[in-house]
Amino acid sequence: RSEPIQSICCIGAGYVGGPTCAVLAWKCPNICVTIVDISQERIDAWNSDELPIFEPGLEEIVKSRRGKNLFFSTDIDAAIIAADLVFVSVNTPTKTRGVGAGYAADLQYVEAATRRIALLSTKSKIIVEKSTVPCRTAESMRAILDATSPRPGVHFDILSNPEFLAEGTAVQDLLKPDRILIGALNTKSGKLAQDRLANVYATWVERSAIITTGLWSSELTKLAANALLAQRISSISSLAAICEKTGAEIDEVARGCGKDSRLGPHFLKAGLGFGGSCFQKDIFNLIYLAETFSLQPVADYWRQVLVMNEWTKASFSRTIIRHMFSTVSNKKIALLGFAFKKDTGDTRESPAISIARDLLVEGAEVYIYDPKVSERNMRQCLGAFSNFHFSSSVEAAALNASAVVVATDWDEFKPSSSSGKTAAAIDWTSIYANMNRPAFVFDGRGILDTAALQNIGFKVHTVGRGN
Ligand code: NAD
Ligand code: UGA
Repeated sequence: RSEPIQSICCIGAGYVGGPTCAVLAWKCPNICVTIVDISQERIDAWNSDELPIFEPGLEEIVKSRRGKNLFFSTDIDAAIIAADLVFVSVNTPTKTRGVGAGYAADLQYVEAATRRIALLSTKSKIIVEKSTVPCRTAESMRAILDATSPRPGVHFDILSNPEFLAEGTAVQDLLKPDRILIGALNTKSGKLAQDRLANVYATWVERSAIITTGLWSSELTKLAANALLAQRISSISSLAAICEKTGAEIDEVARGCGKDSRLGPHFLKAGLGFGGSCFQKDIFNLIYLAETFSLQPVADYWRQVLVMNEWTKASFSRTIIRHMFSTVSNKKIALLGFAFKKDTGDTRESPAISIARDLLVEGAEVYIYDPKVSERNMRQCLGAFSNFHFSSSVEAAALNASAVVVATDWDEFKPSSSSGKTAAAIDWTSIYANMNRPAFVFDGRGILDTAALQNIGFKVHTVGRGN
């Protein structure tokens, strides 16, 4: 018998737990959803007018369900006790020390959450891995639950239900996911649990998009999908480098390739390589897995995706310096964009951090503007490289500058015809009038109108173009 889920607890109120369970609460008003976290600051922000993360469309959803069937709390124990199903949505960063340092996922938060569930549960529950975890993590969770649950009659089913949302489009991705993946053990009880979670999603997702698989396939699929996406970006970065030497243009090459239905048009935009909290971490995770099984060529293959990504960022910084007569010392440079992509305030592994550091090391006066990133966040990211300046507009950043560098693909940096947004486009003529000569523009995202800027008088370099 497939009992409907009535109460959900989500452990981890981050970029995944928050949006995922807010949308779930919105779509399933009969389910009571409580999102918990150890961070009081984060929970307070979720309960305030200023949410801790920026995602288009999220605020409306949170505000419409908060206090009704959506709750944010630090009372983790109470939420676990009440829940029929617990999403484990905690962070799984790369280990920084000990065995596997620099590669393996740090599973201490997953373990802590699992122990808490085992200790407190007074009724049987479904436990769902929502975090991205190494393949066979559910086995460790099972062992922890079996060894630490004090009540013999309480039964736990573990499911893998990885999240595929991308930041900046999280709400859209959650409302209309390409697929929902639910992995379970091939047992009667595992299948029943899988069915119960599938029924929750079926409230708003077509059944044909809900895929059920084995537990280990589901865990690995998440790492595989991210690795394949990241690999595509490294591939396009490598081709962009060839374009810069040959006179071919990467956007034209991408369009020509993307029209092949076997390749498809997505994820072929050349830029500064990939940033964000997951691609690098998950590929490290995959490399570690391969090395654990002595699959050295497999590990080397995926490592090269990361090598290419690092090279892409470093190469862009070197290009800036070379064009500016091999010295940026004491030159003012405006860095436009600090988030790792548009429509998010997230700066984790943002390529802009590397570019800013490279320029600061060379003695440049770096002025950074981003529509959604606070000065405090920039300072945390740049750490010891604290001698940058925070700007509150494009114009202020570019005033008397020698160069403007575009590091994030924000719509407000794009020409109005391509942004499709109502915000006024940058007035490049006026920017040019207030810059030093020669005035350089380095377009790290391939979003500006190169010809129009050259007509104004700028010296322009665009990724993937030989200008
Ligand atoms: P995050 O750091 O934003 O959020 C994780 C939250 O978990 C933090 O607020 C932390 O305080 C909390 N937490 C840690 N241990 C806890 C515990 N024992 N009890 C209660 N709360 C605890 O991380 P995120 O970006 O939301 O990512 C979470 C997971 O989802 C990761 O495994 C990540 O790889 C995966 N993922 C992330 C994205 C993304 O876009 N960010 C997308 C898909 C999957
Ligand atoms: C990525 C995946 O797209 C999600 O499916 C996955 O759930 C998530 O990682 C995760 O596991 O964390 P995200 O990192 O939020 O999502 O954003 P993406 O849109 O994938 O962009 C990643 C990076 O690649 C960004 O720096 C972006 O600017 C860059 N990118 C992306 C390009 O340079 N070119 C492209 O064509 C696409």
